[in-house]
Amino acid sequence: MQIAKEELGDEGVVVGVDINRISSIDGVTFIRGDILEEETLKKILSVSEEFDVVLSDCSPNVSGIWSVDHERQIFLARTSLNIARRVLKKGGNLVIKAFQGSEYPKFLEEIHQYFGYVRTTKPEASRKTSAEMYIVAKNFRKT
Ligand SMILES: C[S@@+](CC[C@H](N)C(=O)[O-])C[C@H]1O[C@@H](n2cnc3c(N)ncnc32)[C@H](O)[C@@H]1O
Repeated sequence: MQIAKEELGDEGVVVGVDINRISSIDGVTFIRGDILEEETLKKILSVSEEFDVVLSDCSPNVSGIWSVDHERQIFLARTSLNIARRVLKKGGNLVIKAFQGSEYPKFLEEIHQYFGYVRTTKPEASRKTSAEMYIVAKNFRKT
């Protein structure tokens, strides 16, 4: 949220969502809510009906049981994708974190259905031992 606001300056609107409380960030509209609840989507849409970009690095509290953590994380990532499909403008862009595992290829394939350009990247800041990958999807095909 901080970086998005710094990049945008006074030009645009930044809306951040997290289930946990965060310190307030100047110029950012923060919604404390669970992305799994429809109410949270309504709150996002009450700020703006269309967005240029959706960023999601949503992760569950990890249990240490890989198969459980992987499935929970992909579920959150898929929910983020579904929110993006509701709020992104045509041609909009999405960056989304996903844990690589058995569900990952199918999830990546889903993203391909909705975006004209899809690439994956693992930034230097991401630990090599972590299964997380970042999916960059551009040019949303709004139907
Ligand atoms: C890896 S942290 C990233 C936090 C923040 N974006 C950052 O860069 O510091 C993942 C975040 O996902 C949030 N989260 C997990 N499940 C959520 C849910 N169902 N709804 C909203 N946020 C959730 C957690 O509270 C946590 O802050």
